[in-house]
Amino acid sequence: MTQNNSNNEMSKGDEYLLNLFLTDEGIANPAIWYKRLREESPIFRSSSGAIFLSRYEDCRMVFRDNRLGKDDRDGPGGTALPREESEEVRAYRKEISANRGDSSPSMLFLNPPDHTRLRGLVSRAFTPKRVESMRASIQELTEDCLDNLAEIGEGDAMEILGFLPVNVIGELVGVPRSDWEYFRPLVTAGVASLEAAPTLEELKASTAAFTEMGEYFAALLEERKSIPGDDLMSALIAVEESGDRISEAEVISTVILLFAAGMETTQNLIGNGLGALFSHPDQMDLLWNNAEYVESAVEEMLRWDSPVQLDGRTALEDAEIPSLTLPKGSQIVTLIGAANRDPARFTNPDDFQIQRNEGQPLSFASGIHYCLGANLARTEGQEMFSGLIRRFKSIEQAGDLIQRGRLTLRGYEAVPVRVTSR
Ligand code: HEM
Repeated sequence: MTQNNSNNEMSKGDEYLLNLFLTDEGIANPAIWYKRLREESPIFRSSSGAIFLSRYEDCRMVFRDNRLGKDDRDGPGGTALPREESEEVRAYRKEISANRGDSSPSMLFLNPPDHTRLRGLVSRAFTPKRVESMRASIQELTEDCLDNLAEIGEGDAMEILGFLPVNVIGELVGVPRSDWEYFRPLVTAGVASLEAAPTLEELKASTAAFTEMGEYFAALLEERKSIPGDDLMSALIAVEESGDRISEAEVISTVILLFAAGMETTQNLIGNGLGALFSHPDQMDLLWNNAEYVESAVEEMLRWDSPVQLDGRTALEDAEIPSLTLPKGSQIVTLIGAANRDPARFTNPDDFQIQRNEGQPLSFASGIHYCLGANLARTEGQEMFSGLIRRFKSIEQAGDLIQRGRLTLRGYEAVPVRVTSR
């Protein structure tokens, strides 16, 4: 393993990163830049000081090393890129971190022991058994989306099918059905702050969205305290009332996290999956004629065009990975999208093959922060594609697919489709 840090190579790697993160071309086709990084500078120390990893094994190792954890509530990106953020953006970031008041960070941004405590409490809702028991309601919610698509015959799949994830989380958490639609734009605005290069307007809209969600859930918490339901929020409140294992602020940050982590990501699994099928008509035919491949197809969609393209860790103490020492405070960016296309891990990685059976990609990360909703997301993806195959003779692209212009959470703004019912 080599560390490319001669001036020449460094500037080339920096250039790749800037192309990847900040150009329309990079956002549209990140695989080109990932390949260059992986082949030329797989462990790349950018002039920002952050280390970018693009190989599967290196990323996996970092995810599984608990000396490398979280210390930044804004997630990876921000200061990692080899360019200065604008004065306004830096000042605003400072202002929001100073004004966080008594809001509590979610488990995503915590290290043990707080992470272990919170994750332990919430993970009971996400056992494979529990998710399996939700399958019937996921099927029902999927049918609602498919009915809407069948009725109009042509429309934007992100708009119509993208309701599934928010509805599933709404039901799980215990948000009244009439409010599900209200959450979609809020969550989309909120998660923009996870990107490496958000604009000032996006950051402001994100703060406003999280504040609004915080207020909504503070009110719902009061309601559930007096009238508990059979839902996750009521279950967490019961834990809160039975001792000091979780605070009210943590209940609120947890339910917001479920929406933030589980809505757009799963929408993008559906949208990116459709995009992959449209650009590979042979695989579309194969799937439509063999619905039993749905499980491996969803896994391949997750690998080939991962809804989460990058993640990050900070060295909480001095650490090392092969051929690199990481002094305490080092910032590491794991390029999941690149790791999932690593030829050392996957055969012909740039090919999209729905029957591929080569084990898990890193799309849900690994180690202690491994996605808590992975089973749920897979189930939703499987139900959606099974439903599409069952209901429609064909699904065709009915216009240009429009990228959302984000990289951390990669997906489409619009996926125009036309369906023919069976
Ligand atoms: C295809 C859809 C999804 C993808 C690609 C995805 C991806 C990820 C990734 C990469 C992480 C690790 C983040 C890190 O290490 O910093 C993560 C964490 C998490 N995800 Fe997902 N996710 C998806 C769907 C969901 C769903 C549906 C839920 C729940 C409703 C969910 C809840 C969470 C939670 C709570 C965490 C934090 C776990 C922890 O910090 O211990 N995710 N997800």
